[in-house]
Amino acid sequence: MSRILLGVSGGIAAYKAVEFVRLATKAGHGVRVLMSANASRFIGAATFEGITGAPVLTSEFDPDPTGGTFPGEKRPDHDPISHLEIVGNADCFLVAPASAGTLAKLAGGFADSMLTTGFIACTAPRLVAPAMNDKMYRDPAVVANVETLRSRGVMICEPNSGDLASRGEYGVGRMQEPEELLAVVESALPRPTGSWDGMNVLVSAGGTREPLDAVRFLGNRSSGKMGVALAEEALRRGASVTLVAANVALEVAPGIERVDVETTAQMSDALTERFDATDVLLMAAAPADFTPSGDPASGKLSRDEGSRGLELEPTSDILAGLAARRRESQTLIGFAAEVGDGIERARQKLSRKRVDAIVFNDVSRPEIGFDSAENEVLILDSEGETLVPRASKASVASAVLDRVDQIRSRPSGSPFGPEHFRSH
Ligand SMILES: Cc1cc2nc3c(=O)[nH]c(=O)nc-3n(C[C@H](O)[C@H](O)[C@H](O)COP(=O)(O)O)c2cc1C
Repeated sequence: MSRILLGVSGGIAAYKAVEFVRLATKAGHGVRVLMSANASRFIGAATFEGITGAPVLTSEFDPDPTGGTFPGEKRPDHDPISHLEIVGNADCFLVAPASAGTLAKLAGGFADSMLTTGFIACTAPRLVAPAMNDKMYRDPAVVANVETLRSRGVMICEPNSGDLASRGEYGVGRMQEPEELLAVVESALPRPTGSWDGMNVLVSAGGTREPLDAVRFLGNRSSGKMGVALAEEALRRGASVTLVAANVALEVAPGIERVDVETTAQMSDALTERFDATDVLLMAAAPADFTPSGDPASGKLSRDEGSRGLELEPTSDILAGLAARRRESQTLIGFAAEVGDGIERARQKLSRKRVDAIVFNDVSRPEIGFDSAENEVLILDSEGETLVPRASKASVASAVLDRVDQIRSRPSGSPFGPEHFRSH
């Protein structure tokens, strides 16, 4: 999780800042918002506070009830100077929208609000996303202010051309879309140590559906939240990430390649196609273990046809199939969603499936597992078993990826390379 400080100034595009905050929060970042006094003529602080879970600050004289921390962090035991503490804790500072007035203040080094004072006190990467009418954006004073900021190392999120807020007008000055801004911000964030730059990560998520007829299916309750959290954490660490998503109704962070599938066979094909180029496979999906025998009925089965038997046959075991052709340098992590005391089955899965680790979770507990925001897992690998206590799925994803780092740094490498297969 990174800490993003967002400055919002007075312009119509302030409404897009709300969507930016929603996307950034959803991607697992902690966000704090600083508003200019005029920004609140366009959008209310309560909206940002509701989404971020943290107070919005406007004046440099405002006390910050959180002591300059970001959501999820522990408040210090003293009252720090608000504008210094919050920027000192930020990993980056984006001003979006940056109005012509605010750009002038930032270029001139004005310090007359929390936003402007914080901006000049900030040593983390700073970005501005200008948003205004095209005539304003082309005015020499605005052009000079943008160039001044650029020459001082501030990243300019260049506005797009398109429809402008004033009726019937078209031109340059339209603020970048929230998804674009998040991608730019994420690329500007300092990489955490143990970066996954250059790694290809393949993640499966969701639950597959096996068709019974034209409208019905055999499925399960997996929402895909855990897989999406893993994909987003791998992206945050710098990896190239592909998510094979089975019936996942969630948005994923921009930057993740998403492949949507429906059935176990489709999931198997999508994963197999990409597996050779994969460094780390995270199999968080719940593929159906059974599929109806024969072809599904072409129409919609009718009640009038009376009762009918349902014959099932096992699907192919995707993880076992991939593990059989793995290279030693690849890391394979399986997930075992068990009901109740399934730990012994998970232990067997670890040795039987020839994967580097199994992440076990008890999906019969309503507060964790399928479709819940939180999870609690036990990570089983050749070195032992580690409990990751109940936490957000983003935190659990981070713990799983930390374990992948440990596995990959072991001098012996994976015990499941080709030699291992020959000796068994
Ligand atoms: C309806 C309306 C829309 C505006 N839209 C913009 C805008 O998109 N960009 C901009 O730079 N200024 C815009 N302004 C002007 C700014 O709100 C004004 O310059 C304000 O003083 C900026 O204050 P701030 O930069 O401190 O937030 C708009 C003003 C109004 C009344």
